[in-house]
Amino acid sequence: MKNILITGGAGFIGSHVVRLFVKKYPEYHIYNLDKLTYAGNLANLTDVTGASNYTFIKGDIVDVDFINDLFAEIPFDGVIHLAAESHVDRSITDPMAFVMTNVVGTCHLLNAAKNGWKSTGYEGKRFYHVSTDEVYGELHRPEDFFRETTPYDPRSPYSASKASSDHFVRAYGNTYQLPVVITNCSNNYGPNHFPEKLLPLMIHNILHDKPLPVYGKGENVRDWLFVEDHARAIDTVFHTGKDGETYNIGGFNEWKNIDIVKLLCTLMDRKLGRPAGTSEKLITYVTDRAGHDLRYAIDATKIMNELGWKPSLQFEEGLERTVDWFLNNPVWLEEVTSGNYRNYYEEMY
Ligand code: NAD
Ligand code: DAU
Repeated sequence: MKNILITGGAGFIGSHVVRLFVKKYPEYHIYNLDKLTYAGNLANLTDVTGASNYTFIKGDIVDVDFINDLFAEIPFDGVIHLAAESHVDRSITDPMAFVMTNVVGTCHLLNAAKNGWKSTGYEGKRFYHVSTDEVYGELHRPEDFFRETTPYDPRSPYSASKASSDHFVRAYGNTYQLPVVITNCSNNYGPNHFPEKLLPLMIHNILHDKPLPVYGKGENVRDWLFVEDHARAIDTVFHTGKDGETYNIGGFNEWKNIDIVKLLCTLMDRKLGRPAGTSEKLITYVTDRAGHDLRYAIDATKIMNELGWKPSLQFEEGLERTVDWFLNNPVWLEEVTSGNYRNYYEEMY
């Protein structure tokens, strides 16, 4: 039995990683450590909650005593670190929350792993840091892509905090020989996506006939990957990636924001049985995000060639599955947006 700590497992991507690991690896015990911020929601994990190889731990990675005690109590064999403040717009209004969780919290975990694994040695251990393509900055020329060798150039408080945490992870690998691995992934989409992010926000607003706020001219480009494909990539890298390496993850699937919003509008009209063009009328151009990065695009050749991972879905299929999930889970969407689920957890824990 291996003990695997997954941080941020109640969030969007983390919940898909927890589900995959709990179901695929009955020989592992999966510990999901999550603070349950506004973005953490145990309703994302109802299908694994009772599993015998799964334990939820409510806790804050910024709380150093809590983290050290946890590592003293449970002999973890591996850490998959996803807990983070993840929304760029929030990082513009409250950067310190991002410094605390993304930088300080990551360092607490690195120290706890380093100290906890000192007595047993690092053999068979792994500290896996889940990061973002935003650390590389923005692209301008269509022929350019983010590669593992692209110099870091973070341009928002969010990406600066993730870049900083990446540097600390590499520094612990280099200085203390901690067995670390990092992945930098492009924009995820799919079930359980929190409706502050572009696609679920637009789905929510279309359902409620509210304006669809497109930043600037909608010309910014993002590279979209279905969240379950990211979870599979994390599984692949955790088990077959090399210590000290970085792997970029992406779907070679670039979309201008305005085009993806229009595609979503067309799909939603069809699903809701509304006349074509109904949802598009809700599109409203609003003030641009401060420091808005123009284009992200990942070159995922390394993980494809070296580890054999590739995306499983065409984008149109992934988007349809996503829309279907939101249409079939109105209670989840309602509770997340009304804040009822937060009151529930405050009563529960
Ligand atoms: P999310 O905001 O949906 O979830 C983050 C989770 O971390 C939540 O459950 C939250 O409760 C938890 N958390 C936050 N602060 C914490 C703390 N101090 N202690 C313990 N738990 C805490 O984020 P996400 O979109 O699922 O992203 C997960 C990870 O993947 C992040 O590290 C993010 O940088 C990275 N990433 C995200 C994307 C994307 O498109 N969403 C792409 C690439 C990389
Ligand atoms: O690239 C990976 C990153 O993708 C992750 O590291 C982040 O955690 C994740 O939040 C995401 O960041 P983005 O800023 O790209 O995602 P977001 O959904 O916030 O915005 C996507 C694009 O849509 C971006 O260009 C801004 C734009 N946008 C966003 C919102 C919320 C709008 O035009 N209107 C909106 O209301």
